[in-house]
Amino acid sequence: MMPKEILPGVLAVGAQDFDRRLFDALIPLPDGTSYNSYLVRGRTKTALIDTVEPDWRHVLQAKLRGVERIDYLVSNHTEQDHSGSIPWVLERYPGVEILASEPARSMLVDHLGLASERIRTVADGERIDLGGRTLRFIYTPWVHWPETMSTYLEEDRVLFSCDWFGAHVASTELFVDGARCVEDEAKRYYAEIMMPFRKIIQKNLEKIRDLDIQMIAPSHGQIYRDPQPILCAYRDWTDDRPHNSVVLPWVSMHGSTAMMVERLTAALSARGVRVFPFNMSVADIGQLAMALVDAATLIVACPTVHVGPHPAALQAVVLANALRPKARFASIVGTYGWAGKMVEALKGAMPNLKVEFLEPVIAKGMPKATDLEALDRLAEAVAAKHAEIGLSEGCSFNPPAV
Ligand code: FEO
Repeated sequence: MMPKEILPGVLAVGAQDFDRRLFDALIPLPDGTSYNSYLVRGRTKTALIDTVEPDWRHVLQAKLRGVERIDYLVSNHTEQDHSGSIPWVLERYPGVEILASEPARSMLVDHLGLASERIRTVADGERIDLGGRTLRFIYTPWVHWPETMSTYLEEDRVLFSCDWFGAHVASTELFVDGARCVEDEAKRYYAEIMMPFRKIIQKNLEKIRDLDIQMIAPSHGQIYRDPQPILCAYRDWTDDRPHNSVVLPWVSMHGSTAMMVERLTAALSARGVRVFPFNMSVADIGQLAMALVDAATLIVACPTVHVGPHPAALQAVVLANALRPKARFASIVGTYGWAGKMVEALKGAMPNLKVEFLEPVIAKGMPKATDLEALDRLAEAVAAKHAEIGLSEGCSFNPPAV
């Protein structure tokens, strides 16, 4: 296994994990993932930026064969997939100095059992000279842990961003082909990992606004030789203005709620609102998360089970509540047999959403004509609400799909 050169003297030494299918025992990885690590050589010093998941240490080890000296190990993020092989690096290169943000020190000690004295904290904006090459450390907190920072290679204008701008994808190709990656893998990554920190990411984006970035090299996925598409996408994803769309997670046990979903989808679509329905019995929660990135409205369609909501619909609400999307409106539609507290339970499960609730439509048993007409009125209300707020038209690299 050989390292690949991304620039003269800057090598990719990480690992591609094509077969991994789940992250954090929760997040589906349809495209696998990668654990990127970079070796940066100056005239006098050499730095390693992030490491790899411990299971893939052998790849890092093989790619560093012949590298006799590493002076600095930059830990941009202490989560195991990037820091887990630090103990091996310390053993192999006893003179290496770990450079990390101030909040990272205790996390490296707590998570990896590292000796505190092996860690040198760097300040926000601090520089390290490698001899003709300079690393500048930029604190970028909460992308997605409190200690995260990015490292900027000044002379080559490369931003090593770790998870930020990353994507769960394994590939033998080092570089993103144009803007292709942005719509799919990078958006899935943002949705699942970054979205809860949208407001802080806005500030981080502002912080790097004037940085001259020629290349973004994240620690998951491929490298951006043209950073504009991913920067543009992040600006849109984190923008307070949603798109003209509705996310509609639903479950139906005997067909009645499905009838309501069909009517509501048609009614919204007829009014120019894009609908993303997800049958929660079979849905990929990654795709649900991606749709939540942009949507102005969340409507949950749910039958009543033992007085409360169907657990699969509740799962969608729990996920949305955790991801804190920018949605401005919400509603609930569904059915009951004889009695129930389904609406109250679902509303109570989304305290993190800053939404205006629109009138629910709940049918007793099979929806009647009056219920279907109420769904049309709900669609009308949604379209009117969307028209009142400022909607995003997306960025030029990532316009709303039609
Ligand atoms: Fe890729 Fe937050 O670790």
